Amino acid sequence: MEDQAQALREIMGARPQSARPESPGAAQPTTQAGARGGGDAKKTRIIAVASGKGGVGKTNLSVNLAIAYAQLGKRVVVMDADLGLANVNVMLNMIPKYNLYHVIRKQKTMRDIILDTEYGIRIVAGASGFSKIANLSEEERQNFIGELYTLSEADIIIIDTSAGVSSNVLSFIAAADDAIIVTTPEPTAITDAYGIIKIIATEIENLNIGLKLVVNRVKSVTEGRRVAERIINISGQFLNLKVEYLGCIYDDPVVPAGVVRQRPFIVAEPKSKAAISVHHLVGRIEKTEFADDKGIGRFIKKLFGKE
Ligand SMILES: Nc1ncnc2c1ncn2[C@@H]1O[C@H](COP(=O)(O)OP(=O)(O)O)[C@@H](O)[C@H]1O
Ligand SMILES: [Mg+2]
Repeated sequence: MEDQAQALREIMGARPQSARPESPGAAQPTTQAGARGGGDAKKTRIIAVASGKGGVGKTNLSVNLAIAYAQLGKRVVVMDADLGLANVNVMLNMIPKYNLYHVIRKQKTMRDIILDTEYGIRIVAGASGFSKIANLSEEERQNFIGELYTLSEADIIIIDTSAGVSSNVLSFIAAADDAIIVTTPEPTAITDAYGIIKIIATEIENLNIGLKLVVNRVKSVTEGRRVAERIINISGQFLNLKVEYLGCIYDDPVVPAGVVRQRPFIVAEPKSKAAISVHHLVGRIEKTEFADDKGIGRFIKKLFGKE
């Protein structure tokens, strides 16, 4: 764990000396071919949203990013995989009767539990009884796999995970096309972001997803870039892992206001700094490579380690 300690010191340590040669381009995402490959309409992009520390804005990002995509005409499903606090529905002022637990227990189908919202996105509620994907019985697993295929009609599935690294979170991240790690400029959030990136790097074999970083609650674009560069430099140096900076979201009172009113800020305050930040993120994600081969089939295969 020595390198961990050193990495953390570097992250938190004296800024100017710790940095390797200044690389102004580091924050730019590598632009590859368009996100939508050719004429394949049936590809589902699966984006897992994760963080080391709780309360950094994952659920707000998941919901508002989903709505931003829906506003572009995409079919979007948000899966609430934060099994402790199912708060995607709370943010949208919805009370789901059923959730993934009922699907796994074969009491309901995915079509029964998926909820339409007034914002053009659909949500799948998480389940606190759904403890470990890895612990499902063979029968439950087969049934769940079948049900997950129902979601292949979506263009985008955003999975809002719980903070930290439970085995479920790692499973979702490993299976997704992209993992967005959310942090804030707070020192504890930064070190925890590095912590989860390190665990992802060491625990997930054949990591072929794009690890992406969002810095939430910034006061300036410069602050976001500075935080991102620290994490990206340390991840490259100590983990030999490429993390891409997707962008930042301004600290903005419309965010908590939207939570209180149960109306997402991207709808309630479309011209706010936070809303504009989220629209920018969509643009960035769409510019990054999306090496999807089999859409949800690949996701399911990776989630369960087999078909
Ligand atoms: N950009 C932001 N500006 C201001 N407050 C924010 C912002 N993002 C999140 N918050 C606040 O942080 C709280 C936690 O956000 P949430 O999305 O629930 O985090 P998580 O899902 O990571 O636990 C929210 O209630 C909100 O008030
Ligand atoms: Mg949350």
